[in-house]
Amino acid sequence: MVLFGATGDLAQRKLLPGLFHLAKAGLLPDRWRIVGSAPADGAPTDEEFRAHARDAVAEFGTSKPEGPAWEEFERSLSFGAADPGAPEPLLAAVREAERAVGGDPRRLFHLAVPPSAFASVVEMLGATGLADGARLIVEKPFGTDLASARALNATVHAVFDESRVFRIDHFLGKESVDNILALRFANGFIEPVWNRDHISHVQIDVPEKIGIEGRAHFFEGTGTFRDMIVTHLFQLLGFVAMEPPTTLAAQPLRDEKEKVFQSMRRLDPAHVVRGQYEGYRDEPGVDPHSDTETFVALRVELDNWRWAGVPFFLRSGKSLGQGRHVVTLGFREPPLRMFPMAARSGPGIRNNELVIDFDDPGSIGTRFLVKDPGPAMRLCEAEMVFSYAESFNTMYALEGYERLLLDAMLGDQSLFTRSDGIERLWEVSAPLLEKPPPVEPYAPGSWGPDAIHRLIAPYRWSLPDRD
Ligand code: BG6
Repeated sequence: MVLFGATGDLAQRKLLPGLFHLAKAGLLPDRWRIVGSAPADGAPTDEEFRAHARDAVAEFGTSKPEGPAWEEFERSLSFGAADPGAPEPLLAAVREAERAVGGDPRRLFHLAVPPSAFASVVEMLGATGLADGARLIVEKPFGTDLASARALNATVHAVFDESRVFRIDHFLGKESVDNILALRFANGFIEPVWNRDHISHVQIDVPEKIGIEGRAHFFEGTGTFRDMIVTHLFQLLGFVAMEPPTTLAAQPLRDEKEKVFQSMRRLDPAHVVRGQYEGYRDEPGVDPHSDTETFVALRVELDNWRWAGVPFFLRSGKSLGQGRHVVTLGFREPPLRMFPMAARSGPGIRNNELVIDFDDPGSIGTRFLVKDPGPAMRLCEAEMVFSYAESFNTMYALEGYERLLLDAMLGDQSLFTRSDGIERLWEVSAPLLEKPPPVEPYAPGSWGPDAIHRLIAPYRWSLPDRD
């Protein structure tokens, strides 16, 4: 495996610790080597790269970098610098690693580099022959609009055919996202109500408590819509809304997800709230007049038989009240309201809801109405929650990136995004990218600008949870 961007932030926080966890769990192939790569300017030696990996695992990993497992991992790391037109040190490091592995090893390239560097690395892989028979993992964001995504796909496809391309979206590696499939398609009582006859609206809510954490350069050019919505939240929507695939194999699964994207209406800027937290413009590296959004809430509609007329409300933003990952399905009311509510339930009835909380390790809950104990027939709200942590030993679960790295090694594309789907998502996003509504300020620690309540009316956001 060759890791481009091996000294960068993503490799440090996720990839190196994740690869060590996979090695320790015995999930890597019998024989393997990891070659780090980066531009020659300031590139580390093998020893320095191993020390860098040790520090990364110590700071961000789930297991400590010590003992025989670490020593073996460390011995399998090396470094080979590469610049456009000067790939020799990388070629030498790959040759040496392949000699150590023996046989005819398959190469896997991971591009953990800024999008501006994608094309030159891919072209270098093609020109040097390194790409022959290899697989490619590409990080998001995949383009910034339809034209750039098409151009990037063309560059990638000139060297790697689609069956060897693994576009990573780490949300799809989360345990509970897989569990949406299990919940929907393994249980006879769920799927019959998973449609417009029973569901009034859907919420996909990923508020973050953190701000931009020093990533001003990345964030100013990206914003929440491109960073979170067009990637992670739309992909989740695909899983929530898809038809049952014929099997769980990559092609039928991804075909069904892409059909959801095909049925998405082009976004209407009138149904989008863009926000910016107060103080964002004072962050180091941020333009004092910046119009970049740190928050987006929007309404998405699907023109298909299952979901016609059911709005999907998506929200994500930085510096909000809580960091959560929640999908809520709001159910329709029964045809007749026969019962008064008990006073202690507070104002307004919340109809039945199914709440999938995919914070690691996640939970699934339902909210429903029960009789308030006592002589009078009055209703109050109740909740049943299944918690992964309480029901299973989740210690051996893989983190999103780990799961996806493993799948790429195994050649399973089920949880990776596909070129046609990505292009379609940029296509439906075009009206918003062309005419974004102005950013509205919101207080850090809040849930976004006031306009979010108008956006979702007559429903209401399932977060924050009511006490
Ligand atoms: C990344 C975004 O893809 O996902 C970040 O670039 C965001 O801005 C992160 O904070 C959220 O991931 P998670 O798994 O922590 O919810």
